[in-house]
Amino acid sequence: MPDKKNYAIDTLLTHAGNHPELNYGIVNPPVYHASTILYSTVEQMERAQKERTGVFYGRYGTPTTFAFEEAVAALEGGGQALALPSGLAAIGATLLSLLKAGDHLLMVDSVYGPARTLCDKTLARFGVDVTYYDPLIGAGIADLIRPNTRLVYLESPGSLTFEVQDIPAIVAAAHAKGALAILDNTWATPLLLRALGHGVDIVIYAATKYFVGHSDAMLGAIVVRDPDLYRAIKLATHGMGYCAAPDDCYLGLRGMRTLGVRLRQHGENGLALARWLQGRPEVARVLHPGLPEDPGHALWRRDFTGASGLFSFVLKPCAPAAVAAMVEGMRLFGMGGSWGGYESLLMPVKPEAIRTATAWAPGGPTLRVHAGLEAIEDLIADLDDGFRRLAGA
Ligand SMILES: Cc1ncc(COP(=O)(O)O)c(C=O)c1O
Repeated sequence: MPDKKNYAIDTLLTHAGNHPELNYGIVNPPVYHASTILYSTVEQMERAQKERTGVFYGRYGTPTTFAFEEAVAALEGGGQALALPSGLAAIGATLLSLLKAGDHLLMVDSVYGPARTLCDKTLARFGVDVTYYDPLIGAGIADLIRPNTRLVYLESPGSLTFEVQDIPAIVAAAHAKGALAILDNTWATPLLLRALGHGVDIVIYAATKYFVGHSDAMLGAIVVRDPDLYRAIKLATHGMGYCAAPDDCYLGLRGMRTLGVRLRQHGENGLALARWLQGRPEVARVLHPGLPEDPGHALWRRDFTGASGLFSFVLKPCAPAAVAAMVEGMRLFGMGGSWGGYESLLMPVKPEAIRTATAWAPGGPTLRVHAGLEAIEDLIADLDDGFRRLAGA
């Protein structure tokens, strides 16, 4: 598509990565499966091995992979994208590509749990020093940056607890001391926050969530602003054997076509549910940055253009059996971890069990909601019945 930069994001969602002129006029890029790539001459083969661009070995991508990567970078409004087999692979590949023994990583305390495990187990084994920091630290992060701090990792809003980080302040502090800033932008997608525009160096996506959008594929992506950094990460990632499956890249690209309309509905339903939950006597607190009462609301309004459908709420103290009675009896809300699909989810979570830099003691059980695309009145009726079970257990 010509002049990508001139199009609004809804137009990019519709056309980015599509090349009908290269594919017999077919609208969607076909799924190319490949391991072996054949060459006609030794010279051609040696050049491909040296340059390592385009289609040259199945593991390093096929035209389907490249179409997905092209579209992700177009949505981000810059940089270059790399497809990974999952969101966690995108996190792992980035950290393992950039860190070495003796380096220091500043990791936000509200990071997605398995990323924390990766730091505590794998990175620690390789001699990388990890410090967890308060998501609300803002410019104060400067005091934690050491001469060997290579990366500052952000996730905003944070997993499970949804604190909004002061992204520009943290990025500025990192850059002032020569560190790179990485942001897991899965909650917002480029539609609600264009992270490169806020100075972030590397953006991470669990494309499994809103890009794929239908709960049926695992996929990740990273977008890197600087071409040399992109190439370094790409070579290291290739060297570790990560390979996003062509079928999943196809599903990611196909999901992207409806991401705009889906996300608007996820966001609307999420905010409506959050407001309704605020009025419930059983609820102590709703953790949704789109609510004016939320402590992160001002930063969220400053940096984000909207909300997606994921948030949490805290119940007033009650027995675990009451929570189980509520969530196990839901008719529409499934109990499951991977969010971002079209369907609603509700599950108990335990942020207090994993945090180390900051205490999480909200005084009652925390439940995470993913607002799907169902009619809001049916979702509210389902939750209403759930609260009846909670009270009756
Ligand atoms: C914020 C965030 N980042 C990364 C991931 C990991 O993505 P994946 O499940 O595709 O590995 C998740 C998964 O839930 C997530 O919520």
